[in-house]
Amino acid sequence: MSSFQTVRGMRDFLAEEAKMMRYIEGKARRIAELYGYKEIITPVVESYELLAAKAGEEVRLRMYTFKDLGGRMVALRPEFTPSVARLVATTLKNEPKPFRLFCVGSLYRYDEPQRGRYREFWQSNFELMGSNKPEADAEILMLTSDLMKSAGLKNVTFKVGHVGVLRGIMKSEGLKEKTQNSVMQLMDKKQYEEAFKLIEKAEASQKCLDTFRKLVELKGGEILETLTKLKEHVKHYDEASIAVENLKEILELFSATECKININVDAGFARGLEYYTGMIFEVYVPELDIALGGGGRYDKLIELFGGEPTPAVGVAHGLDRIMLAMQKQKACLELKEKKKAMVIPTKEGLKGTALKISNILRKAGITVEVEVMGRKMAKALEDADRRGMDYAVIVGERELKENAVVVRDLRKREQTTVKIDKIVSAIKA
Ligand code: HAM
Repeated sequence: MSSFQTVRGMRDFLAEEAKMMRYIEGKARRIAELYGYKEIITPVVESYELLAAKAGEEVRLRMYTFKDLGGRMVALRPEFTPSVARLVATTLKNEPKPFRLFCVGSLYRYDEPQRGRYREFWQSNFELMGSNKPEADAEILMLTSDLMKSAGLKNVTFKVGHVGVLRGIMKSEGLKEKTQNSVMQLMDKKQYEEAFKLIEKAEASQKCLDTFRKLVELKGGEILETLTKLKEHVKHYDEASIAVENLKEILELFSATECKININVDAGFARGLEYYTGMIFEVYVPELDIALGGGGRYDKLIELFGGEPTPAVGVAHGLDRIMLAMQKQKACLELKEKKKAMVIPTKEGLKGTALKISNILRKAGITVEVEVMGRKMAKALEDADRRGMDYAVIVGERELKENAVVVRDLRKREQTTVKIDKIVSAIKA
């Protein structure tokens, strides 16, 4: 057979990368714990209908969709949000609100592979369901800021907008939801002229077009100033004005947390997913032009899935991209290296004793590898050195008669004979 490679868009994580990925996952897990988000594990395969319902064209067309052997249309999950919403609409429907739910795992999208864009990627996902209050939105921003900081990232910026502004304008201009969705998709891809053409075709007023043109130009880090301008631009549209007020409240609350994250308010900002109804945001660092995370408020999804009306807000953090950003910024991992030892029997007949000694050490929390290649002592020591071992524990007949082994400190290149019941303390010291 020809030599196999990974399927296009798929990746192997070798030891170093796997360690880094699990490290970031650990940070996300810790944030979940600190904020009271309970982990749930949902299936990778879900019904196509569930995943496609509000995914938006961008994600929907890129789903790995297939018929299973029972003839069901299913897909590999491209995100966690529909699965969590499904649970809250069904199994969890009688549980007290709010829900704080956390997921971490792999997702699948047939995206065009490039740096930071893979067909299998990882997210940590946080959903806060049951509250329509701005403090819930602020919490999602806050925990995202905490995660970025705990990953050691610097100069993080949140790009923030509100779907209610653009949709509010289109709604009061009588644009159908389908047209609104298409406009939002185009805005998300920054194809503004095409979006304006659609608005024109839908016979919206000149005032609407003028407002949209102003909005795509309006962005800035001065939150109050930008929001004041935004408020002025949309003052003839009631729903849009309420949306601006809501965004202001959220950002005021977030500022009060003193998280010290750069905020860039972007009035023309849209996201590809269709379920958003309120504040939306994405996370950036200067070294990468792709988002490290994204989220927002979606108040209608759970009822769309047959549940009680349940307002919700959430975020997903792209772990692969956080890892890339950490590498770019040389953010170092605080990985505490533990002491490691290699146990080497000096002859065939002592293999069993070597295994027994390895277990004594492991029970004391020391990482132990046993020489399994049948190497001669000099080669075995060389190999232990190459593997970054701190100690070699040499199991020899002469010492065993005294209930002892030789412990060689591979860093200091010194060795002593140690009684077996003292090896743990010899190595730990
Ligand atoms: P999303 O913006 O589609 O949102 O994805 C969130 C993050 O996942 C992105 O910012 C990015 O870091 C990462 N990501 C997405 N696609 C890829 C890819 N092909 N390769 C590598 N990383 C990728 C959602 O998924 C929503 N469910 C977020 C949410 C939760 N909204 C509310 N609750």
